[in-house]
Amino acid sequence: PASTAEPRPGDLTVGGVALAEVAGRFGTPVYVLDEAEVRRRCRTYRDVFPEAEVHYAAKAFLCRAMARWMDEEGLGLDVCSAGELELAVAAGFPAGRIVLHGNAKTPHDLKKALWYGVGRIVIDSPSEIARLAAAVGPDGHQKVMVRIVPGISAGGHEKIRTGTEDQKFGLSLSDGYAQHAIARILDQPQLELTGLHCHLGSQITEIKPFLSAVRRMVGLMARLHEQHGLVLPELDLGGGHGIAYRPGEPVLDLTRLARRVRAELADACAAARLPVPRLIIEPGRAIAGPSGIALYHVVSVKRTGGRTFVAVDGGMSDNPRPALYGVRYAPRLVGRAGSAERAPMTVVGRHCEAGDVVAADVPLPADVRVGDLLAVPVAGAYHLSMASGYNLVGRPPVAAVRDGRVRLLVRRESMEDLRSRDVGM
Ligand code: LLP
Repeated sequence: PASTAEPRPGDLTVGGVALAEVAGRFGTPVYVLDEAEVRRRCRTYRDVFPEAEVHYAAKAFLCRAMARWMDEEGLGLDVCSAGELELAVAAGFPAGRIVLHGNAKTPHDLKKALWYGVGRIVIDSPSEIARLAAAVGPDGHQKVMVRIVPGISAGGHEKIRTGTEDQKFGLSLSDGYAQHAIARILDQPQLELTGLHCHLGSQITEIKPFLSAVRRMVGLMARLHEQHGLVLPELDLGGGHGIAYRPGEPVLDLTRLARRVRAELADACAAARLPVPRLIIEPGRAIAGPSGIALYHVVSVKRTGGRTFVAVDGGMSDNPRPALYGVRYAPRLVGRAGSAERAPMTVVGRHCEAGDVVAADVPLPADVRVGDLLAVPVAGAYHLSMASGYNLVGRPPVAAVRDGRVRLLVRRESMEDLRSRDVGM
């Protein structure tokens, strides 16, 4: 299955469908999403965190089918724009189980969130409080949470660490900004503060930072109890659960995470004489990432500068992650066995930059040639959702496989799509 980064020789099918068949039907680049794997990962979360609300972070990857699967698996949804919200609602996802995030929610985002009636809005800045209260209106009512910066450094890359002081999200615990904002929220009768939120960062493979977050967040809850007599019923610890992109890389152990977080939360709350709040978690990558595979055709193979470059028909427009975060992938040849002899090759994209690298110095069959199919596992999260229009190549389609059948979920962006937006001359 697409579930492991572990290569299995001869394993060319996902969800009972040959990857070469998907490529043949829909062309390349194409994303293949293993529906059973997505659902299995949702169930794992529900099993290991039975007491928690599990909200899928839609930013990792969203389409209507994905929203429906999340609904059917009993998850909530974290969105951070009117666009993500409207697509989820279009899939029939109940707005009451949607949480709106964002450090710069536009008036349009807030208007749509209130119109659809999202369950909670996570306040990220003091200026948002009055703005939201006004939009809700004197007779309205909206549940809100407030995003706290716990001052914890965690995450796979500097650009995706959001628990530290020196970054744009949330309100700092250390300098009193958070307490000040909370006091202002409590002054707004139409806003109901249900709890605190934090998100440490993404691609975290250790449990410790989450335990520190529990302690610091409960510490704030205790202070709020002293100051305002407030008992907050919810605590959202965000997402960020790390996965392996290549065989042998560390993975966050969800069973251990759940056990340790549960114990830490119980201890911290007992010490503070507070009831244990309802836990919320927001995984995105750990649900979508390993459930998706990107397929490319090899367009050129050449030797230059002492390396063998294998160029494919996609690249940084559909996967900016190597360029942004230096992430390393393990592409493999699919559709034919290839020679047993391996040679180091650098898989590159088709875009106009030297930094457009899919995977540097990876071992591939020595006879890789033009027309071959390459699969990049663990491509389900933050690939298509971060795809760009660079070089007007058109964003790839998404096909779902399940029980030996394949169906198109998102079609390829066509030249007609691209041309139709170009309305002036
Ligand atoms: N909750 C909040 C408030 C978030 O900002 C995020 C991710 C998540 C949950 C889900 O985090 P996850 O479980 O997926 O790690 N583009 C980057 C990742 C950016 C994550 C942004 N926020 C990447 O490709 O690695």
